[in-house]
Amino acid sequence: MLAAPVILLAGCSPQQSALHPAGVDAHELANLFWFMSAAGFVVWLIVMGAAIYAVLGRRKPTSERFGDNFILIGGVAFPTIGLAILLVFGLSLLPSWGRDDVPELRVHVQAEQYWWRLSYELRDGSRLETANELHLPVDAVIEFALTSSDVIHSFWIPALGGKMDAIPGRTNLLRLEPTKPGIYRGVCAEFCGPSHALMAFPVEVHDADGFAAWLEAEQRPASDVGSGTFLAAGCGACHTVRGVTEISSIGPDLTHLAARGTIGAGTLPNNADQLLAWISSPDHIKPDARMPPYESLPESDRRAIVDYLVSLK
Ligand code: CUA
Repeated sequence: MLAAPVILLAGCSPQQSALHPAGVDAHELANLFWFMSAAGFVVWLIVMGAAIYAVLGRRKPTSERFGDNFILIGGVAFPTIGLAILLVFGLSLLPSWGRDDVPELRVHVQAEQYWWRLSYELRDGSRLETANELHLPVDAVIEFALTSSDVIHSFWIPALGGKMDAIPGRTNLLRLEPTKPGIYRGVCAEFCGPSHALMAFPVEVHDADGFAAWLEAEQRPASDVGSGTFLAAGCGACHTVRGVTEISSIGPDLTHLAARGTIGAGTLPNNADQLLAWISSPDHIKPDARMPPYESLPESDRRAIVDYLVSLK
């Protein structure tokens, strides 16, 4: 009994709440929700009023004319007009951008089993690849080009706006405009396998300077100091560490892994103990994850890999 409200209230965390909007679309959706809820409450009051009147009201029969009008107004006119108003209000919120509007930033998002491959389009046309943690500038229109490598996933940042499916073989475009700097949480919103619920991504919305600083730091190549065991164990066959390994497009890019807040796509806090647990047996933490377990490596080797990973700021 005590746990129930705690669990329910945990769902009200503003980091992942469509009712604590921090983006243009999220504001419109929250308004739609409150408008629909209020309209639904009014309808409920009218229906309950009529029901109470029917049970407790006077027992004398009403005229046939009153009955006809009651059905015509209450059963035909009121729902038709009421639903039409709600429909028009809902349709007015559909995105209205055309092909000629150019977004201020484009991020390519490829959903994987079970993580997010992110690729920022830079001003010079090149791409900056990262994973599982989005950094966005405030008050800018950002276009997400969504696709998937395996099954249908859905990209959703409740505090910033609506969700959209990531579908293999096609690219869906979603535009969001954050209005408030802060840390939010995005999730996969389409069941995609046993670790669907472990496919989240922190979202940090920066002011313009903060975003420029992040972008600049993220573009720097990594240091190879201490990378010996990481390379010898073959980690570079799947993971890119820019400046240290060849470019690989199998696992998440690890160039600035230590700068991220979580590992395993929002699953664990990013620290040495959790990294060791993750490398040893990712499948126990995240069922069906593609990364193989490295329990067979001596613990000293695994620790040496962790030491290198935590140095990748
Ligand atoms: Cu990916 Cu659910």
